[in-house]
Amino acid sequence: EKGNYRHFMQKEIFEQPTVVAQTLRSYIHQVDQSVALPQIDFDLSRINRVTIVACGTSYYAGMVAKYWFEQFARLPVDIDVASEFRYRDPVLEPGGLALFISQSGETADTLAALRHCKAAGQTIAVVVNVPTSSMAREADLLLPTHAGPEIGVASTKAFTCQLAVLAALAAHLAVKRGRIDREEEIAIVRHLVETPACLNAALAFDEEIFSMAHLIAPARDVLYLGRGPDYPLALEGALKLKEISYIHAEGYASGEMKHGPIALIDEAVPVIVLAPSGPLFEKTVSNMQEVRARGGKVVLISDADGIKEAGEGCIATIEMPKVHPLIAPLVYAVPVQLLAYHVACVKGTDVDQPRNLAKSVTVE
Ligand code: F6R
Repeated sequence: EKGNYRHFMQKEIFEQPTVVAQTLRSYIHQVDQSVALPQIDFDLSRINRVTIVACGTSYYAGMVAKYWFEQFARLPVDIDVASEFRYRDPVLEPGGLALFISQSGETADTLAALRHCKAAGQTIAVVVNVPTSSMAREADLLLPTHAGPEIGVASTKAFTCQLAVLAALAAHLAVKRGRIDREEEIAIVRHLVETPACLNAALAFDEEIFSMAHLIAPARDVLYLGRGPDYPLALEGALKLKEISYIHAEGYASGEMKHGPIALIDEAVPVIVLAPSGPLFEKTVSNMQEVRARGGKVVLISDADGIKEAGEGCIATIEMPKVHPLIAPLVYAVPVQLLAYHVACVKGTDVDQPRNLAKSVTVE
């Protein structure tokens, strides 16, 4: 079943161009170049706020979506992990959309949060990979990912498919709310259609990442930094690394580093910086300089412009294609997944069945 791959996780990482394309096909009308939901008769134009709830990697997909929904659709977004959300007595007003993101559709805390929101009169939308799951059945609006079965315990392809759906949903909401015109919608559709090719371009760095894995494998602690929609990617990178290689890793918003974690930096702590070039790149460059001034070893994941500007002095750079901000989190997911994967292989851990972890968490 693994074909030519050593692990399911590796196979699933490499399936991403195919399954993201497959997923996007149900959210894009190729002929009229528009974004549409699979339930075409579902009207989201009266939604006045969004509450996103999920766990783990699915929660990080939700964090990315918050940036998109706010920026593109100008919708206020509240987001929480399900185990906190349920017990904090959240304020849920009429007109709210509650959005749940889950690969399995069975995660106990997320499902309980869904039922809580339903009882509170929210419209329930779910992004799920298992169409027969409890969450899928209980939703008003079902937004499926078509990642296919995910066997590796560490989520990879389900995550990028969630992001694909959420990007399309952000664009759809933006259109419905009159925040983007027809021309912009067509441009977004074009970028979404290009995503699988960009994922392939990112996957082409597999060997390069494989050969830098020995730089990370001996570390006791690793820091991941990102800004804006790439901040959740830093959190996801850290989660992937700790799950499968058992190296302690933390993700931080680049600008938060000087508020504490910088105290950890020395020659033994690799710092992985996720930073596509753009208006905020300068700020991230100065955060990188702060790390380097303390002897920290920086791995920069950026595009050609970013690497040209800030690649010097890094112990390694990984060059991603230059992409639209709506696509960047999908593309940058690939090198963080590959890095975690190869580091785990160097360490010889059980990649597909990490200790203490289960694929579906159906207990609270
Ligand atoms: C991380 C991972 C977990 C899941 C989390 C939620 O690699 O797989 O953090 O993302 O348990 O699971 P679902 O998405 O099934 O609700």
